[in-house]
Formats: sequence, C-alpha cells, structure tokens
Amino acid sequence: MKVEFSEAAKKEFDEIVKRYPQKRAALLTVLHLAQREFGWLSRDVMEYVGQLLDIPVGEVYDTASFYTMFYKKPVGKYHIQVCHTLSCALRGARNIYEHLEQKLGIKDGEVTPDGKFSLIKVECLGSCGTAPVVQINDDYYEGLTIEKLDDILNHLDKNSE
Ligand code: FES
Repeated sequence: MKVEFSEAAKKEFDEIVKRYPQKRAALLTVLHLAQREFGWLSRDVMEYVGQLLDIPVGEVYDTASFYTMFYKKPVGKYHIQVCHTLSCALRGARNIYEHLEQKLGIKDGEVTPDGKFSLIKVECLGSCGTAPVVQINDDYYEGLTIEKLDDILNHLDKNSE
C-alpha cells in the first residue's frame, strides 16, 4: 500500500523540518505527525518517514519501539492505557485493568471488534500522586474508581455513535 501524507500533513512536515538544524533531528515530531495522520505506525509508514528524513527504517523502528506513545499495531478509536507501575498497582490498577478486560471483552494489546476501544498495560504515566491513572488517547483520568471508569466509558461509547 502506498503511504503518503495528505497535502495538509505535507505542509506541516515542511514546517516541522524547518525548525531543526538537520532533518533527522525531527524524527520524534514527524512520528507524532505520522501517527496522527495514519492512526498507527505500520512498517510502510516507518519506511515513508525514513525516506522523508533520510534515516534508515531500522533506526526509525528502534526509535518508535522505544516509546509506548507510538503505536506499532492498529488501535481503537479510544486507546486505553492502564498504568500498572507501583503507585497505581498499590491503589487498585489491577482491578481497573481486569474490569476493563471483562467489560470490553479484550485483552492486553487487543481492539474491540467494532474498533471503538483498545486496551494496553503501560509503565508509569508520570502522575503517581493521583494513582490509579488511565490514559485514553491524549487525556488522563486520575484517582480512578470502577464507578468513575464506567461513567467515562459510557460517555465515550455514546459520543462515538
Ligand atoms: S505509577 Fe502510575 S502514574 Fe506513576
């Protein structure tokens, strides 16, 4: 499949690379752009980014793999990341995660058949003081309980119709 940025993304790409002394230094920012544009970073997308920035695809892949914020598999419209590191673990992250697995009928790294939700366990989201924490797309939900989580999911589910 041929991968190519839309005209708007091409313009954004040109603006991004102007901000860096060398094209290759824009890699993280361009990966963000590519993820926003294509939804996730397939091998084809990483090759495309590598060609645009004159970086070998292996290097693009290594960088994308290092950061959990970059998706290497398709994700749902709402991508749910559950922190399971110490502070969250001590404050009920496991119950939250298991509740999500049951409610959505999917496991770590899977997407619901309707494509609405995907679920993944992640390391510390950097908000340990408000544990347990879940990130859904770009939003953080903190001090979560099962009840709060159900309200959030119901709200997202309604909004996605
Ligand atoms: S341990 Fe969960 S946000 Fe840090």
